[in-house]
Amino acid sequence: MPLPCRGWTLALLTLLVGFLIFADISEIEEEESGSSGGRGTIRSAVNSLHSKSNRAEVVINDSSSPAVVDRSNESIKHNIKPASSKWSHNQTLSLKIRDSTMNVSQNLYELLPRTSPLKGKQFPTCAIVGNSGVLLHSSCGPEIDAHSFVIRCNLAPVQEYSQDVGMKTDLVTMNPSVIQRAFEDLVNETWREKLLQRLHSLNGSILWIPAFMAKGGKERVEWVNELILKHHINVRTAYPSLRLLHAVRGYWLTNKVHIKRPTTGLLMYTLATRFCNRIYLYGFWPFPLDQNQNPVKYHYYDSLKYGYTSQASPHTMPLEFKALKTLHQQGALKLTVGECDGAT
Ligand SMILES: *[C@@H]1O[C@H](CO)[C@@H](O)[C@H](O)[C@H]1NC(C)=O
Ligand SMILES: *[C@@H]1O[C@H](CO)[C@@H](O)[C@H](O)[C@H]1NC(C)=O
Ligand SMILES: *[C@@H]1O[C@H](CO)[C@@H](O)[C@H](O)[C@H]1NC(C)=O
Ligand SMILES: *[C@@H]1O[C@H](CO)[C@@H](O)[C@H](O)[C@H]1NC(C)=O
Ligand SMILES: *[C@@H]1O[C@H](CO)[C@@H](O)[C@H](O)[C@H]1NC(C)=O
Ligand SMILES: *[C@@H]1O[C@H](CO)[C@@H](O)[C@H](O)[C@H]1NC(C)=O
Repeated sequence: MPLPCRGWTLALLTLLVGFLIFADISEIEEEESGSSGGRGTIRSAVNSLHSKSNRAEVVINDSSSPAVVDRSNESIKHNIKPASSKWSHNQTLSLKIRDSTMNVSQNLYELLPRTSPLKGKQFPTCAIVGNSGVLLHSSCGPEIDAHSFVIRCNLAPVQEYSQDVGMKTDLVTMNPSVIQRAFEDLVNETWREKLLQRLHSLNGSILWIPAFMAKGGKERVEWVNELILKHHINVRTAYPSLRLLHAVRGYWLTNKVHIKRPTTGLLMYTLATRFCNRIYLYGFWPFPLDQNQNPVKYHYYDSLKYGYTSQASPHTMPLEFKALKTLHQQGALKLTVGECDGAT
């Protein structure tokens, strides 16, 4: 039960694109992330790259003028001239900057949304469905499907479990690792076909792919992109940028919750606060036993075992859960961790 989907999931505030990746993440942490994404994100990412090479001139405060530039234009001339006379190209630095950006394939470029698929949207109620086995025998399906916007994680299967998890899907995330874990890295036609079926069943939903976060991720994302284009699959792709991770971590930090690496579930909740009036969480339960001390599967749909607080895990699920539980008690969101009331 991963606080829903876990994995290497980092990403972006406005469900948009960012295709620059930075070797040194901390460099961009000081950037404001309020931009609307898209081209703006790229531009500010480029600015932050620039700042790497030129720290003395970084202007964090937009309203002030660059610290090193003198008011008088005389002195500007004076400063540049001697510098340019001994200017030489720094190949090392140029390559370093190039390496910290990435090439975008034609396929990815075609699938990049021009505007956020959620721009200007607001929903009365949203369900965020985590993948915990606590959903099994919950009969929450109908209640989940009744929400105006339903978010799911990591391409979790729904059809066979619809009584407990529902079917409606407006946004589903997909960590690249899912291709390996659930679709055998598409080794043969059988698995390609399986993935294809699953993608077809999304029927116009937003497919949210944190593409650039993990090693080996890019290649798998390219496979998926290729399938989507080749088979004209009706999904709306979104590729969050790394900036979302920082924004989300910063958000929780200001609330005194120290999250190392937010799970997809927590990212989704944080995101949903921007476009949902009321948020209902299902399938969030990072513990091996349920409230009645019965064993709970990590995922409702597979036999994956996982240590919720294991050293290996980059996530801190129990900590996240505690934060969500507090919000539940305060009435900011509703957590459902057992059966649903109106179950039929
Ligand atoms: C930003 O610059 C303005 C004008 O120079 C100044 O009043 C303000 O205090 C600065 N803010 C920060 C955070 O430095
Ligand atoms: C240089 O600055 C002076 C005032 O300090 C101004 O009158 C002049 O137009 C400036 N020249 C340029 C090229 O900006
Ligand atoms: C060129 O860039 C490298 C890597 O950033 C840096 O270590 C080196 O000092 C630079 N050389 C000059 C002459 O500025
Ligand atoms: C991007 O493409 C160029 C030219 O094909 C190649 O030289 C470079 O290594 C690529 N960069 C990355 C980060 O893949
Ligand atoms: C594809 O691979 C799986 C094992 O991962 C195997 O069971 C299946 O028979 C293979 N299908 C084909 C068509 O080769
Ligand atoms: C796909 O979505 C359309 C419009 O949202 C809907 O009318 C249709 O019934 C859906 N098809 C399936 C198989 O869910």
